[in-house]
Amino acid sequence: MEKMEQKITILAIESSCDDTSAAVIEDGVLLSNVTASQKVHEEFGGVVPELASRAHQQNIWPVIDTALRRAGVEKSALSAIAFTRGPGLLGSLLVGTSFAKGLALSLQIPLVDVNHLQGHIMAHFIRPATPDRAQTANADKAQTDSEYRCPELPFLCLLVSGGNSQIVLVEGGKEQAKHMPKMTILGQTIDDAAGEAFDKCAKVLGLPYPGGPWIDRLAKAGDAGKFPFAKPHLQGYDYSFSGLKTSFLYTLRDLMKAHGVDTVEALAERIPNLKEDFCASLQKTVVDILLQKLKRAALDLGIRRIAVAGGVSANSGLREGMLELGRKQHWEVFIPPFSFTTDNAAMIAEAGYFKYLDGDFCAIDEVPFAKTRID
Ligand code: KG4
Repeated sequence: MEKMEQKITILAIESSCDDTSAAVIEDGVLLSNVTASQKVHEEFGGVVPELASRAHQQNIWPVIDTALRRAGVEKSALSAIAFTRGPGLLGSLLVGTSFAKGLALSLQIPLVDVNHLQGHIMAHFIRPATPDRAQTANADKAQTDSEYRCPELPFLCLLVSGGNSQIVLVEGGKEQAKHMPKMTILGQTIDDAAGEAFDKCAKVLGLPYPGGPWIDRLAKAGDAGKFPFAKPHLQGYDYSFSGLKTSFLYTLRDLMKAHGVDTVEALAERIPNLKEDFCASLQKTVVDILLQKLKRAALDLGIRRIAVAGGVSANSGLREGMLELGRKQHWEVFIPPFSFTTDNAAMIAEAGYFKYLDGDFCAIDEVPFAKTRID
């Protein structure tokens, strides 16, 4: 009698910041991806770590339960539990890690720890069972031909999120479809991340948290050449965004002084299109800084396959900028669908699946880590 092939079914848990997410992947195909975003932080203008951990505790079981039901998978059918081990907020990571350990122990199945940053990059390999192409196509027509196309190795990935801005070299051997790729950080921010610059500048303008999407929206109606903000002059492939934040703040402060007002709202009444122009100028400066180093790295390494990942890759200016630079440089550009740009468990499931194939499991006494690393 022919032996039935055992399916590899993995439940993945993501809880590194303020999104509680669970996903189920079966033989490399994503069956479900459920995320509960935390609204509790909005009134504070940023993520409050203690509140994030408590919200994860409330959300984690309903989110996992929904992911399993949507996938039509029983707990007893699971082959392994994958979870985000770091980097992130330690309290938030502890909730996901502890839950993953408890579930793996009770089901007597292996644990797979996933680096959150590797997860963002692995979002490029996700194959959903039912891709919602219509929605993403409407959201950004320019990207439709680049979504759900997996980049061949090696490629360069610009990883831009709320906590990280990096250029990562992603490499692999011959059988790339069966192994987790090797990832090396070529350059990274020496101070703030691009997403942090968007969020902090948005806060100064009085926009809600997270500010990135608001900046993106207002920038569409602004003049990107209105305010020439400072750009860093760093050697190599490293980034810096703290000087840009200061330049943004001082430009606004000087304008307020010149008009004899002490609030942004009062200034906005005197200068038409003030917020839009600040947002457009900021977005252009961030995109210019990000793409300048990316271009240099691509030329130095002679790599023409270029990807972008992380929450800030949802930014329309960055997406257009990448595509335009790609056309000029004859790059093959890979941009993930919107739903896999911000934190989600689908990308953790994807990384977990490859690590499972590699037999790369995690001991039950491993602990989460907060700081940036990509191993
Ligand atoms: O990857 P992510 O969800 O979380 C981290 O792992 O950090 O990224 C969140 C960041 C926030 O800073 C948010 O403002 C930014 O991504 N973001 C955007 C946009 N959408 C999200 N930044 C600029 N434009 C957007 N459309």
